[in-house]
Amino acid sequence: MNKYTIIFVSLLSFTLTVYGNNDLAHTAISLVPRPSQLAPGNGDYVFSAQTVFAVENKEQAEVANELIGQFTRSARFTPGLKVGGKKGDIRFVTDASLKDEAYSLNVSSNEILIKAADCRGFFYALQTIRQLLPPAIENSNVTDEDVDWKIPAVAITDEPRFSYRGLMLDVARFFMPKENLLRIIDCMAMLKINKLHFHLTDDNGWRIEIKKYPRLTEIGAWRADRTDVPFPLRRNARPGEPTPIGGFYTQEDIKEIVAYAAKHQIEVIPEIEMPAHCTAALASYPQFACPVVNKFISVLPGMGEDNGGMVFCAGNDSVFTFFRDVIDEVAALFPSRYIHLGGDEAAKAYWKKCPLCQARIKKEHLAHEEELQSYFMNRVAGYVRSKGKEIIGWDELTNSKLPEGAIICGWRGFGQAALKAAAQGHLFIMTPARVMYLIRYQGPQWFEPQTYFGNITLKDVYEYEPIQQDWKPEYASLLMGIQASMWTEFCDKPSDVEYQLFPRLAALAEVAWVQPEQKDWPLFLKALDNYTAHLEKKRVIFARSMYNIQHTVTPEKGVLRVRLECIRPDVEIRYTVDGSEPTETSMLYTHPLTVKDSRTINCATFGAGRQLGKTLALPVKWNKATAKPILGDKPNERVLTNGIRGSRKHTDFEWCGWPENDSVTFTIDLQKEEKMKAVTIGCITNYGMSIHKPGSVSITVSNDNEHFVSAKEINFTPEEIFREGSYVDDLLINLEEEVSARYVRVTTKGAGCCPAQHVHPGQNTRFYFDEIIIE
Ligand code: ACM
Ligand code: ZN
Repeated sequence: MNKYTIIFVSLLSFTLTVYGNNDLAHTAISLVPRPSQLAPGNGDYVFSAQTVFAVENKEQAEVANELIGQFTRSARFTPGLKVGGKKGDIRFVTDASLKDEAYSLNVSSNEILIKAADCRGFFYALQTIRQLLPPAIENSNVTDEDVDWKIPAVAITDEPRFSYRGLMLDVARFFMPKENLLRIIDCMAMLKINKLHFHLTDDNGWRIEIKKYPRLTEIGAWRADRTDVPFPLRRNARPGEPTPIGGFYTQEDIKEIVAYAAKHQIEVIPEIEMPAHCTAALASYPQFACPVVNKFISVLPGMGEDNGGMVFCAGNDSVFTFFRDVIDEVAALFPSRYIHLGGDEAAKAYWKKCPLCQARIKKEHLAHEEELQSYFMNRVAGYVRSKGKEIIGWDELTNSKLPEGAIICGWRGFGQAALKAAAQGHLFIMTPARVMYLIRYQGPQWFEPQTYFGNITLKDVYEYEPIQQDWKPEYASLLMGIQASMWTEFCDKPSDVEYQLFPRLAALAEVAWVQPEQKDWPLFLKALDNYTAHLEKKRVIFARSMYNIQHTVTPEKGVLRVRLECIRPDVEIRYTVDGSEPTETSMLYTHPLTVKDSRTINCATFGAGRQLGKTLALPVKWNKATAKPILGDKPNERVLTNGIRGSRKHTDFEWCGWPENDSVTFTIDLQKEEKMKAVTIGCITNYGMSIHKPGSVSITVSNDNEHFVSAKEINFTPEEIFREGSYVDDLLINLEEEVSARYVRVTTKGAGCCPAQHVHPGQNTRFYFDEIIIE
């Protein structure tokens, strides 16, 4: 779980880092990613109908036409274009001494000179110009806006840190319509991101037309409608149930997407998952499952209940024929050098039971099912290589013998498993789930739409440094770059995806492009504001979570300390303690507040005289346990007596969970003898995540912290524990009689495993409490 480590700094106390002649700090020039070198000039260059682009050849003309087209759409003029001539206002000049993707850009009031070694460099120079232009350049129609089509004079030289700057987009769990996808590609290009890892197949949908296997998209692209409940709660389809949810890209669509991406200097890398994450394919062609699978296979609307863990049969040769055929069509559609073969999270239960898989293990002299996966991946990888392509795979490929030349995407935890591949000389890409999985919450969870796990804020992405000090030097040279991964379990419409992507994708771009010593958080935010102004004109949805306040309320010697933090240092936090709405004249937050009684703190961020983030209302409710210590002072347990209730998200930092989940004991020290009649425990149920009430809670009390006597024990029935939904329950424990004691001990036993009819049968339950209320 990521911790906020943000220090609030007022608007006036910025310290801006200025280095070399890169004097971004004192100009209105705001670019993301930040260029390597930048020197502001005098005056502006003004674009008009008289502006002429002079390019050397047809390829450069195509690049120039991208920006010219934007003027045609948004301004009342179209700049001219001359191919082959030297005369013009915006001149492209090839400079073979520059590196791949690098460019130099010299803007003066009468001309613009761009140098690059290749079209990629010219394209990125124009993306820089695009960001320097007024955001109205993104308009799709000419408007009545009075726009000065000018950019400031400046000299820029620029080149990327990494050659692989990627976004993985999961279009299997949520099918992204083509038009929306193209718009995202354009927004990636503005950030100089150059790889789209296209996750086309998974349990929840097969999204690419394969002519030889039409059922993949007739059946595999469609699933039952469960949009009324969150992904983890979704039940499987029944046989014969309509399957209205989904979609797929025809081969013509794929060609259009690839061509559009190529114009934006983006390589589209297709991912075809194997041997797992394949339920959509198996729903279409059940003969490719192990013959021991004897239940109805449907495209999964959610996690699959007892149908999770499906795999292709590794003992059936027709499975490998299927993959050869699929790879033939995929390789012909995607010009990329790479095909991603997945390889993650392959459960081995069916392979263990399957006679064909076991026969394969014997015949190939494999030690176990993990080696069978290696056999599977190597066999398909060999075919991919025979077609002149290279393979990429998830980091589980390092569990056994790696396919020759395989490039590894490090994803689990901080992606460390990829280093096992690096140690064997393999190239790798970092997309660690702990920092680069944009499915996670991007801000204080009280304000965020439901998703999974903990927080990855804009700042967390921005601060990511892939190259670690303890790496062997050769690892750094094998690191191709980094990638953000956007899994779409919780997305039901394109704007849900955009909200999770933006603005964090801009932070990814900054990490991927800019040298670490040149990063500067306040300057990045300023540039980001300019980028999001462009997004706004394109009507792309982006989150404003970076303006919201994260609270931390901690018991401390009988009072509560309330910290309010915002990841943006250029805002003020204003608050009230009398229940009124905060305004720009409310009290300014400068240091943690002390609270000694029940009251509501309302707070919000402000800047330039207006409210920027959402209002956070923090009702503190005092009881006999509030602000009292829990013996042992474990950090996770501090929230239990902090007077603040949790939201309906168990990862919002107000809920306490325990690793030793089956049995937990903690003792509250009330500091003096107190009379009490009841103990109430705030408890959350999130059925889809197997978070349930405990099986039992017992309360014992003591005056000396040695001899405890029972005050009450309560037990919950399976019906009470496994009631479906997502809700907060108060477990009211009326004591047998009023007691007087200083120490109150809570002992909780877990509820064991989820029962057979549960959406996750057999999975261990967990319990979470937010507050202990003693009255
Ligand atoms: C993954 O997140 N299963 C690659
Ligand atoms: Zn099998």
